[in-house]
This record gives sequence, C-alpha cells and structure tokens, in this order.
Amino acid sequence: MPCAIPDRETTDIALGSAVRAPSVHNTQPWRWRPTATGIHLFADTGRQLTATDPDQRYLIVSCGAALHHMRAALAALGWASTVDYCPEPGDPEHLATVHTTRRPPGDAQLEMAAAIMVRRTDRRRYLPRAIPARHLRSLAAQVSARGAAVRQVPDTLLPRLATPMQHAVAAHATDRQYQEEIARWSGQHRITDGVPSRNAPAARPVGEIPVRTFAEPALLDPADQPDAAQWLVVGTTRDDRRAQLRAGEATSALLLTATGLGLATSVQTEPLGVAGSRHEIRTGLLHDCAYPQAMVRVGWSSRRAAPLADTPRRPIEDILEA
Ligand SMILES: Cc1cc2nc3c(=O)[nH]c(=O)nc-3n(C[C@H](O)[C@H](O)[C@H](O)COP(=O)(O)O)c2cc1C
Repeated sequence: MPCAIPDRETTDIALGSAVRAPSVHNTQPWRWRPTATGIHLFADTGRQLTATDPDQRYLIVSCGAALHHMRAALAALGWASTVDYCPEPGDPEHLATVHTTRRPPGDAQLEMAAAIMVRRTDRRRYLPRAIPARHLRSLAAQVSARGAAVRQVPDTLLPRLATPMQHAVAAHATDRQYQEEIARWSGQHRITDGVPSRNAPAARPVGEIPVRTFAEPALLDPADQPDAAQWLVVGTTRDDRRAQLRAGEATSALLLTATGLGLATSVQTEPLGVAGSRHEIRTGLLHDCAYPQAMVRVGWSSRRAAPLADTPRRPIEDILEA
C-alpha cells in the first residue's frame, strides 16, 4: 500500500490526543518527531522514575499507550497506520515509526478516539455491580489484537494479588528514594505533569487491597462499601522493549474501550516495579506463562462520585522535536 503523510494540522490534532495517554505518575515520557517518512516516537529517558521504575518498564509501557492514542486519533481522522517497532537497533530511545495511509474511519475507530478526551484514571472504590461478560470479552479482544493477553483475577485469587501489593507497599514505605519521587511527582505543586492532589484519594485502610498512594491526597471517595473492582492483568510472552510497547498499546485500547462502555478504570503497577512482588504475580496469577506488564482495575463508579477533573498535560511544543 502506498504511504501518504497527513498534513500539519492533522498531525497536530493527533498529537493533542496522543498527549492525553496515561503514563506512570503522569510523567509523559515521550517525544514525537513528524517527518516526511513517518511519525517517530522517542522515549524521553530524562523523565524516568529511577526508584519507582528502575527497569524503565513503565516508561516504555507509557510510550506504548501514547503510540496507541496517536494511532487511534489518526484512524478517526482518516489515516490507517502501521508501525516499525524499535526501528534503529543503535538508538534504543527510538521506539517506533508510524507509517500512514488514507482510510475512512468506521464506527469502531470513531468510538475509540471519542473516548480519549473522556477517559480519566479513577482511583476511588467501585460499586459491587457485575460487569457483563460481553464487556469483559470486548476488553480481552482489544488486548489480544495487540499481541498481549489479559488475565481476569477471580475473587478466589484476590489474595494472590493482595499479598504482593502489600509486600510492595511495605518495601516502598522505607524506601527514601521512592518516597522522594512520589513527593516530587504528586501533590499540589505540579502544573503540567505529575499526579494532582485532586485526583488522589487517601490510603486505604489495612485489610483492603492497597493501591498506590500519592502525596497530599485530596480526592473524596464517597464509597461506603469495600472496593468491588474487577482486576485485570495484562501480560506478554516476552519481556523486551517491543513487548512492553505492545503491552502499552493493549492497555490503552483496553482503557479506551472500557471508557466507551461507561466503565471506570485505573492502572495500578506498584508491585510490578519491585522484582519480588512482580515475580509473585507472574507465578501466582499468570502461572509463569507470561510477564505481567500492567494491572487495571475496572468497574462502575458510584453515582455519588463527583466527576473527575482531568489531569494536566505538557504543552505540545515540549514534546515535539524538530
Ligand atoms: C504504565 C503506567 C503505570 C501506572 N501506574 C499507576 C499506579 O501504580 N497507580 C495509579 O494510581 N496510577 C497509575 N497510572 C495512571 C497514571 O498515574 C495516570 O495515567 C496519570 O496520572 C494521568 O492521569 P489520567 O490517566 O487521568 O489522564 C499508571 C499509568 C501507566 C500508563
């Protein structure tokens, strides 16, 4: 198929959507370079969270989510795309080149892109209301279409999730560098990146499955019953950069599809940044068959929950390379 290049206005609109992608601590660790040969994505390793994400796993998964957001926006604007992953072996920061061809969007592409501006990470507790099996099948299909797999954690196995999460929280409680990083990347003071106080609820009481806590939490969680989120684990059979990028694309497609179905979502990765806890999840929930790359809470938010403010992003000029 001959390759064609979208005009500047189209690329700018797509970049505006790509920056809405979720990223670890809202670090937005990406740089984009649109050229006549394709749209290039680079890792911004200067924004790595060295204590939280020592292996750059979440930096790469975040870039994969941005790659999917970019492609979803282009598709809605009439541009189908293919990707060369890690196109330059000598340049590990060059993660992907997106090639485009003209193709009118269908309903599925329009719905996926429409969810980009609506999706928010909702860290509050979800209602004890079942998610229809057909919704869960749709989410799983989005993940497998991108070369990853999703494991739905049944209630009986929730202790195998809770234990590594508690281990990670305990390890981080005494990790000064981790705590400094959280304080630097969350709270009241960040303007265009980081996790704002208004999107972070207080730590959960002992006995509940813990989720990552941020500095100066100020989000009210009106739920008066325990969290009934469905936990999903996104895994890949390999654990290299390409697999992590694909996992990011798969997680992004899962989140946007869930948003389109009216479901609340929140990515949770704290135990996956601690080698021992990650191993516990790999063996306890994925039977040693896949590498866990992200965990997603999915569910229904309470009717009493206030609409969430969006989390700010950096201006496009800051992520664009000449
Ligand atoms: C790879 C990755 C890891 C993440 N890990 C966590 C986490 O452990 N806890 C959490 O509350 N949010 C986590 N998030 C969500 C980000 O904090 C969130 O996407 C970011 O703050 C932007 O907010 P938004 O998703 O509402 O736009 C993660 C997101 C990604 C892509």
